[in-house]
Amino acid sequence: APPSHLTLLGQQYPTDSITNISPTIISKLPLRLHTQPFHPLNTLRTLIESHFPDYAHLSSFSPLVTPYKNFDELSFPTDHPGRSVADSYYVNKDLMLRTHTSAHEIDVFRSGKTKWLLTADVYRRDEIDGSHYPVFHQMEGARIFSSDASGMKEVEEDNARLSQHLSQSNILIEDILHITPTNPAQPSHDPRHSELVAVNLKLSLNSLLLHLFAGVAGASKEEPLRVRWIEAYFPFTSPSYEVEVFFRGKWLEILGCGVVGQATLDRADVPHKMGWAFGLGLERISMILNSIPDIRLFWSTDPRFLSQFSNTDRKISTFKPYSKYPSCFKDVSFWLPLGEDNKKIHENDLCDLVRDVAGDLVEDVKMIDSFRHPKNNRTSLCYRINYRSMDKSLSNEETNALHSGVVSRLQDQFRVEIR
Ligand code: PHE
Repeated sequence: APPSHLTLLGQQYPTDSITNISPTIISKLPLRLHTQPFHPLNTLRTLIESHFPDYAHLSSFSPLVTPYKNFDELSFPTDHPGRSVADSYYVNKDLMLRTHTSAHEIDVFRSGKTKWLLTADVYRRDEIDGSHYPVFHQMEGARIFSSDASGMKEVEEDNARLSQHLSQSNILIEDILHITPTNPAQPSHDPRHSELVAVNLKLSLNSLLLHLFAGVAGASKEEPLRVRWIEAYFPFTSPSYEVEVFFRGKWLEILGCGVVGQATLDRADVPHKMGWAFGLGLERISMILNSIPDIRLFWSTDPRFLSQFSNTDRKISTFKPYSKYPSCFKDVSFWLPLGEDNKKIHENDLCDLVRDVAGDLVEDVKMIDSFRHPKNNRTSLCYRINYRSMDKSLSNEETNALHSGVVSRLQDQFRVEIR
């Protein structure tokens, strides 16, 4: 039977029927990589903070929040998929691990701050591969102005200053219209004011990206760094945008942003303000800036990883892989329990199970086959689990032991029949 209580960050919390936070996840709660001296995520945080010197810099908010704060207060609809136990970690029905730093927007606005950055660990149940990890780090940034003429004058002056500063750079920015029928200004906003604020958001972030990426490989004269703005949707901003950076032949999403929903500011007791907010993923940016090939490396305690980032003279160090150890894949095929075919095992449940057994020794998990037996209607699945250590060579015995641990947990937890 599952425990009746969990101890999280030194406090006890009751569990219930939806508790799904696993031991692996619990062990990450105290680590707070974004505050560890010399850690690349800490270095990146301070680098971004230094670009916004007159903003409040916050980084000690607890990851435990109510679903109300994480979703409802930000106008997420009641049927939003992010709320499901398949996608988010719940301590119990009243407490969860934040899925984004936006969960703190209202508290920070209510405290009276008008320019701020907030960095934190966030948690989402996900697949296993080189760029997904169930814990990652986001930085939320926001700036709000008085929505009267004096506030809008402040925005205009800042826009003029920023455009001047951005006029020469070797970053190629693909731009879009700020306000469109599908990405509208909010009903309570004068569209001209919304446009000014959206321009301020875009200039502020382009200036940050220039600061971060200028001089980095791929941003040379011959091959400028490519950044693109695309229309997006978030329940708590409008208009909304996503920013992507072209890296190794692919567009990588690095941040979401938009004009802050007036409902957010009303709930924070600052109804006479308007402004913008963004949320950026620190791992994605660090993987590009520091050439870090696998997201698990951020959790490594290997001195061969950490020592590469202890050079205080250089803002950004390029990671030199110390060798890739051989990988070893093992397949597991099983029949789903009879009569349960329509409530199939969710892939995220399987991935949490694999992480609980193998931790960071698992590199990726993929379904390679699925079929239904025509006669008895049973469903068979086959998963391929790729094991690889970042720090050493795994012996055959070690890999076999990990895999048989996975297989027996699958039988115990999901009642599957191994083929
Ligand atoms: N919280 C959003 C996410 O995690 C990003 C975001 C932040 C979007 C602030 C708009 C404004 O995807």
